[in-house]
Amino acid sequence: MNEIDLRSDTFTMPTMEMRQVIAEAEVGDDVFGEDPTVIRLQVKIAELLGKESALFVPSGTMANQISIAVQTHPGDEVIVESDAHIFYYEAAAPAIISRVQLRPIPSSKGMMPVQSIESAIRGNDVHFPPTKLLCLENTHNRHGGTVIDIDYIKEVRTLAQKNKISMHCDGARLWNASAATGITPADYAGYFDTVSVCLSKGLGAPVGSVIASTRENILSALRWRKILGGGMRQVGIIAAAGLFVIENNLQNLKNDHANAKLFAEKLLSSEFIEIDINTIETNIVIFKLKGNANALQFEKKCLNNGLKILAIGPNTIRAVFHYQITRQQTEEAAEIIKNLVKI
Ligand SMILES: Cc1ncc(COP(=O)(O)O)c(C=O)c1O
Repeated sequence: MNEIDLRSDTFTMPTMEMRQVIAEAEVGDDVFGEDPTVIRLQVKIAELLGKESALFVPSGTMANQISIAVQTHPGDEVIVESDAHIFYYEAAAPAIISRVQLRPIPSSKGMMPVQSIESAIRGNDVHFPPTKLLCLENTHNRHGGTVIDIDYIKEVRTLAQKNKISMHCDGARLWNASAATGITPADYAGYFDTVSVCLSKGLGAPVGSVIASTRENILSALRWRKILGGGMRQVGIIAAAGLFVIENNLQNLKNDHANAKLFAEKLLSSEFIEIDINTIETNIVIFKLKGNANALQFEKKCLNNGLKILAIGPNTIRAVFHYQITRQQTEEAAEIIKNLVKI
């Protein structure tokens, strides 16, 4: 039985073509700024995001954490959505690295109510930590790959500017937002001071993320990357895969979105599953098991039947689509779930 793995869009495997590009990559010592392939990737991403400069880093977590470090001082406060990756999955790194306090605000689809943001912004009082940074995640992972609306981003930007607060976009899947709406990554990025993007999620590179911002912020980011031990040497072999996926795989994202939608539509007919089809905007599907069903036990049951999915809550399951998941596998996966959920 061929296994189907829908746990994340990070489970892509480098193709032979990608491995060939990796083998032939021109390299140099990137800590000395001399790796031509890394330089090409950084220029390319800066261009795609409409920013002055960009920096290659090993992971999305490091990209987010450096972006926070660059724009805060110890004791500042950072507004984040309460299910954001930065708050939920980065092991309290902002408290350890930047020594800032996070101020989580709940939302339904990743868009914190503007009024809640406004009331969370601290006044000038010695009791309060200064609010210095606001982060948005686009698309939003834990809300099911939901796209952050551009008009909402504009409104938040206006509020942030009025209060001299910088904005960071965790754009691990900004490519998916762009594929879903047709709004360019640069148009989204224009409302943020720093943007992080990942090459190793749905795009399929084995490693790598990039921060884009002003030249000044990227110089500071370079120093933070050094502090965190993220400087790598002949890393053009990895950057080459990043360039490859930017050139070849962006166009596949719409197909992943169609598979996610198809999968969700198929689950909709099960009386044992609760799913809101309106939240399926990109490549992530989140659904709930009705009654007393336990997500972890269901995850195991699926595993025993050749399907890997991820329990992300007591009765909540996540399935993620990427370019190495076919339409047929999508249909098979939905059938497996519909059959097992009845038992
Ligand atoms: C929205 C979001 N941001 C950041 C990250 C962190 O990326 P990495 O696993 O490369 O550290 C992830 C990882 O899944 C993510 O989903």
